[in-house]
Amino acid sequence: MSYPEVRPRRLRRSPAVRRLVEETRVAPAELVLPMFVREGLAEPRPIASMPGVVQHSRESLRKAAAEAVHAGIGGIMLFGVPTAKDETGSGGIDPDGILNVAIRDVIAEVGDATVVMSDLCLDEFTSHGHCGLLAPDGTVDNDATLAAYAEMGVAQAEAGAHMVGPSGMMDGQVGVVRRALDAAGHADTAILAYAVKYSSSFYGPFREAVESSLQGDRRTYQQDPANLRESLREVRLDVAEGADLVMVKPALPYLDVLSAVRAEVDVPVAAYQISGEYSMVEAAAANGWIDRDRAVLETLTSIRRAGAQIILTYWAVDAARMLRDRY
Ligand code: PBG
Repeated sequence: MSYPEVRPRRLRRSPAVRRLVEETRVAPAELVLPMFVREGLAEPRPIASMPGVVQHSRESLRKAAAEAVHAGIGGIMLFGVPTAKDETGSGGIDPDGILNVAIRDVIAEVGDATVVMSDLCLDEFTSHGHCGLLAPDGTVDNDATLAAYAEMGVAQAEAGAHMVGPSGMMDGQVGVVRRALDAAGHADTAILAYAVKYSSSFYGPFREAVESSLQGDRRTYQQDPANLRESLREVRLDVAEGADLVMVKPALPYLDVLSAVRAEVDVPVAAYQISGEYSMVEAAAANGWIDRDRAVLETLTSIRRAGAQIILTYWAVDAARMLRDRY
């Protein structure tokens, strides 16, 4: 009988040993909670396809933001859902539009205790659900959209956002927003660029969350899931245009992309664990098919291990609680 000379199991035999040799840890301070605020709501309204996530009223948003700070998470990413949408998404630029009002509310509530970020995109505000302005032939007009993003970014910075997140995948969006912020006296407002954004089926539940009326898809501006090298080009461009951080989205199906992006640039890299990633785990757990809490921590650990320093996740507050119990 011969015995193995090397026994990796020695380092797995007790919780104490496993904790000692653990290579990757997720800290609450690296988690960012995306939050939805819906104009005109008196009470928060559940989002059926995202069990546990709600569209907030202005009041409930303030309260939940304070709780998120208390949980020790690193940031909040705000999305606004207006009552009325129009062709140009004017509610996103209007200083009294729901997102800009909500930024002010949250800043008044939490100040600098966490990083307040805002999604900078028109799709929540347009009647057609596209991320930009439409040309007469129905295609999304890149350069006309850039002008709208510049105004929207300035409106968000004036409302007090610490970081704006251009997410519409228009060419040149980071540079245009950077210049507009600087010209308006907001040189200190940072840009979290959704640099790599794939045209993904996993955005499904988000459409309900923001009441999107999108017909068709976003393939003329979001990336083809088949492409990796294209993502490196996207991040290099965004960094050159002034991105302070870059993000990869979705997260779990794109861990190889995350890892390659991490190696390519030296700015902090974030990943967005999106609505469909959340809902898949919640649905399987509700059926008793997987252990929810273990699955949540496993996905977050894997995203972290692949190279994300910051993770946007609808589980941010919950995960912070689980992590506290763990260490
Ligand atoms: C654009 C935006 C989207 C998401 C975040 N920002 C939708 C899209 O681009 O199709 C999706 C987030 C999620 O699915 O959780 N405003």
